[in-house]
Amino acid sequence: MKVFKSRFLLLTFLLPLCMNAQEYRPTVENIEARKWFQDSRFGLFIHWGVYSVLGDGEWVMNNQNISIEEYEKLPNFFNPISFDPKKWVSMANDAGMKYITITSRHHDGFSMFDSKVTDYDIVDATPYGKDIIKMLADECRKQGIKLFFYYSLLDWNRDDYFPRGRSGKGILGRGEGDWKDYIDFMKSQLKELLTNYGKIGGIWFDGHWDQKEWDGNKYGELKVDWHYDEIYGMIHRMQPQALIGNNHHIGVIDGEDFQMFEKDLPGNNSTGWGTPADQIGSVPLEVCETINGSWGFNLQDRKHKSDKELIHYLIKAAGYGSNMLLNVGPMPNGEIQPKHESSLKAIGDWLKQNGETIYGTRKGPIPPNDDYVSTQRGKTVYVHILNPEIDLIHTDKVPFRIKEISDMKNKTKLDYRNDRFGLSIDVSNLLKDDLDTVIKIELR
Ligand code: GLC
Repeated sequence: MKVFKSRFLLLTFLLPLCMNAQEYRPTVENIEARKWFQDSRFGLFIHWGVYSVLGDGEWVMNNQNISIEEYEKLPNFFNPISFDPKKWVSMANDAGMKYITITSRHHDGFSMFDSKVTDYDIVDATPYGKDIIKMLADECRKQGIKLFFYYSLLDWNRDDYFPRGRSGKGILGRGEGDWKDYIDFMKSQLKELLTNYGKIGGIWFDGHWDQKEWDGNKYGELKVDWHYDEIYGMIHRMQPQALIGNNHHIGVIDGEDFQMFEKDLPGNNSTGWGTPADQIGSVPLEVCETINGSWGFNLQDRKHKSDKELIHYLIKAAGYGSNMLLNVGPMPNGEIQPKHESSLKAIGDWLKQNGETIYGTRKGPIPPNDDYVSTQRGKTVYVHILNPEIDLIHTDKVPFRIKEISDMKNKTKLDYRNDRFGLSIDVSNLLKDDLDTVIKIELR
């Protein structure tokens, strides 16, 4: 009894220490990759799968309650003969993007890469028969673009995704398997993604929220164990530089290297189900957004954002200290929608002129609002005027000394006051661009 007691005491004393010892410490490679990621600021999101054949987004299986048997016919029709990885990667490069995040497997459970642990993949189940992820990875390496893999935790096809989550309830033909098998399956697939495609940028998880109830206002308790400790540990062991992010809409979980905000500027929670402001972590941030209203190809989506809206979103993201991951949903033939291509070109043209205000910057000292947004690199602060109607830029406090303030394009010096009432910059006489006018504040 005595022995038991002292062992118990020892355990209660040691346990918290052990737990602390397990806390995730990023490696040097990982920290360097995080810095590269933050400096990059702009990436391309690609949602592509057999769902593109139906032209109704990547949730079509759930939204139209397509049965497993019916949906499994789709791979037979997926033959993207016009897919040209060189074109895709060049398009990203010309848009000023530094990395690509592509769906390796989405919620429909179909793998867009050659997987040995399932036949439900692009090589085994489509007439195309080629591993598009491999083709893209090779091209990315050639063109100096990093490749990340989106990987869905949620699966509407497999029996072992059981207990099921709150989506896909109307899909007929789903079986009841063993959760442990599902976790093993995901681990095997992730191993493949980390082994067969060279050094990757990272893994972008999605679907965590499927295992929580949603009452229209807030999430309930998580119903399963995703085994993140093992999965994240494995990724970091296999590729220490690979950055892990998870679109779970909550604060950073131990082992994650960046935090993402879906259709939302960090902390704004404009969607209602986004990550709240008090859960923003100290890791690099990334905002993802669509060019129209859909992630996967949607034939009838007419909600294309204007070039101005997209460029403003990129500037705002940077002003929040965040990257922007902008999405395209390629068509089933492998081509990118022409409207998406032209939007990307417009952003690229703008970045060619204004890249120094975005790349390698961090969030600036003047808090962002709809009229102006600031970024900073070293001793230079850039203030983007997004609303050409304004006459004054004001902020309560600027905790450094100012050398000079001028307009970036014409280098005209601007009048300002910096005293106990804060910093005020007079922009009333400045000729402003309808899209964006940049003011440069040089610090001492
Ligand atoms: C959501 C959707 C998913 C999409 C993702 C991108 O989580 O479920 O379809 O891939 O957002 O951010």
